[in-house]
Amino acid sequence: MGIDPNKPSAARIYDAFLGGTHNFAADRVVATRAVELVPDIPEIARANRAFLRRAVRFALSRGIDQFLDLGSGIPTEGNVHEIAQAIDPGARTAYVDVDPTAVLYARDMLAADPNTVVIQADLQEPGTVLAAPALRDLIDLSRPVAVLMIAVLHFAPDSPRLTAALRDYRAAVAPGSLLAISHTTGSGADPAALERIADLYNRTGTPLVLRDRAQVAGLFEGWELVEPGVVFCPQWHPDPEDPPEADPARLLMLGGAGLARH
Ligand SMILES: C[S@@+](CC[C@H](N)C(=O)[O-])C[C@H]1O[C@@H](n2cnc3c(N)ncnc32)[C@H](O)[C@@H]1O
Repeated sequence: MGIDPNKPSAARIYDAFLGGTHNFAADRVVATRAVELVPDIPEIARANRAFLRRAVRFALSRGIDQFLDLGSGIPTEGNVHEIAQAIDPGARTAYVDVDPTAVLYARDMLAADPNTVVIQADLQEPGTVLAAPALRDLIDLSRPVAVLMIAVLHFAPDSPRLTAALRDYRAAVAPGSLLAISHTTGSGADPAALERIADLYNRTGTPLVLRDRAQVAGLFEGWELVEPGVVFCPQWHPDPEDPPEADPARLLMLGGAGLARH
């Protein structure tokens, strides 16, 4: 599938939220309208990236040095391999995204890095993802791996296919592996604004699915949730370097991590 600059893409809209330059006018129209509806969106995107950073460091603190970043997005500041390699230069990262723009920029950025690969695939096809030769050459699935599904499952409606995909990733990883998820929630937001944002995303081919805390916790089936469970992202293992957040629910993003015990 090629890049269509006239069709807004979830990856490029998110890049626009983060102030990136890898987006087109059609993406910026959606991003601007979304921010008019929910002015906190750029802050939500940054809080999500901060959650990602903390999840990667948490994985490293558990001795995990390989990362499978599903729905990795367009490279921006603080990518998984950069966070990981700053702590463990040998850390390996497989990036997976369905969007050709995300894959193009990621390949461009990472061409010289032997400890990363970029795979274009749908995360809901774990057979394809896990059998990709580039992934098999880099990631040793007999050792623990951190599976990251950061701000992506809100583009995956409930379905037997999603359930099976989540089960397959869990079955494929070694004991000691970690799953980290962040996910947009509607809890606490203005329902009218959310409905209009959902309309905007319907135009991108990746409709937005909001889940509440129990539904996000349900995505961790087979994994043992790490304390404090599924919480608003700023509440999950906050770093002293993160700005304090008086009202974490304002940021509409839930996050959590689970361990594979066996
Ligand atoms: C909001 S961005 C998040 C990027 C990054 N994970 C982060 O949190 O900063 C969501 C990304 O998920 C990708 N995506 C959506 N559905 C996907 C799917 N089924 N398989 C793989 N990638 C997907 C989009 O193309 C986009 O790049």
